[in-house]
Amino acid sequence: MPIFYAKEVMEEMKRIGAKKCTLIGGEPTLYPHFFDLVQYGRRLNLFMKVVTNGRLLSDIKFVKKLKENGVSLVAISIHGTSARTQNLITQTESYHETVASIKNCLKEKINFLTLTTLNELNQNKIYKIGKFLNELGVKTIIFNLACPSVGEVILAKFVLPPDKLAQIIQDNYFKFKKKGVKVGFYATIPLCLYNRKLLTKMIAENYLVPLAQGGCNVYSATGLAFDPWGNIIPCCKQTKTILINTKDENDRFIYKDRFEEVWKRIRKNFGKRAWQYPSKKCTFCGYKKNCIGGCPLFWGCFNPFDYVEGFDSLR
Ligand SMILES: C[S@@+](CC[C@H](N)C(=O)[O-])C[C@H]1O[C@@H](n2cnc3c(N)ncnc32)[C@H](O)[C@@H]1O
Ligand code: SF4
Ligand code: SF4
Repeated sequence: MPIFYAKEVMEEMKRIGAKKCTLIGGEPTLYPHFFDLVQYGRRLNLFMKVVTNGRLLSDIKFVKKLKENGVSLVAISIHGTSARTQNLITQTESYHETVASIKNCLKEKINFLTLTTLNELNQNKIYKIGKFLNELGVKTIIFNLACPSVGEVILAKFVLPPDKLAQIIQDNYFKFKKKGVKVGFYATIPLCLYNRKLLTKMIAENYLVPLAQGGCNVYSATGLAFDPWGNIIPCCKQTKTILINTKDENDRFIYKDRFEEVWKRIRKNFGKRAWQYPSKKCTFCGYKKNCIGGCPLFWGCFNPFDYVEGFDSLR
């Protein structure tokens, strides 16, 4: 993505009211003008969040530079507590660098959190990961759920089914609670899959963050994602759903000073009114607003009929 295009997008989004900009990628720290972009966003008074595999942050100089450039929040992805699991999931020798990056952020007192994607390969290590990060001194430990992202084909190989995910989250609740380890799950699956009594507790204690609170761009219609080719996509997991292209032949942002009209058009297809619940059982469900029926990407891969139990049949 050309830097001038990225800056034009940021300026225009700021002009129409954006508060926050997330650099996610791919791997944003590899972008040649990465620091320039962070700095520019901060100058526009945007909250600048960076989601990273952390590898470059294993160099303390990189972390210091992030701090100097005023980064607002860093999310470091870590998926295992052993080189074996982490490297297997990331398909590269990332473990030692990622752990070093966490230590560096702690040392430099950077505002950061860790992000662990629960999937087929680390499903039995969730407690171990949380405990490990807690012992390192990480204050905000977030787990999200691997969902079938939509690319050329639906990537579902390492995605666990919704009922299994709910069981894992529930089982680990007791383990974390017993040891006083605070973690949170961005749980993008139906709330009717959990034990009802536990559900209330898990939400109240912020152990479980329902999807409506966790921030689904598509449901809230408050955010958009720009890919490197200038396409607007609904969210970063829907890379093949191109809503509109925004670059001209000179790589400039076409909608400078006039994005409102496009935004209005796009929003018509987003948001609560356009949202599709996966089952009829959702219609009169008391958890509807909080649950929003789970991330729709799951339903491209799993049949809601097999998973959505509904309000009446909550266990
Ligand atoms: C797509 S990566 C990009 C940023 C950076 N390269 C990183 O590793 O964090 C951002 C986060 O999305 C997570 N992620 C990737 N594929 C996912 C999927 N199918 N479902 C849920 N999370 C996913 C990754 O584990 C990572 O924490
Ligand atoms: S549709 Fe919503 S919940 Fe699902 S991946 Fe996209 S932003 Fe996240
Ligand atoms: S019935 Fe629908 S809205 Fe209610 S908890 Fe289940 S999936 Fe969510």
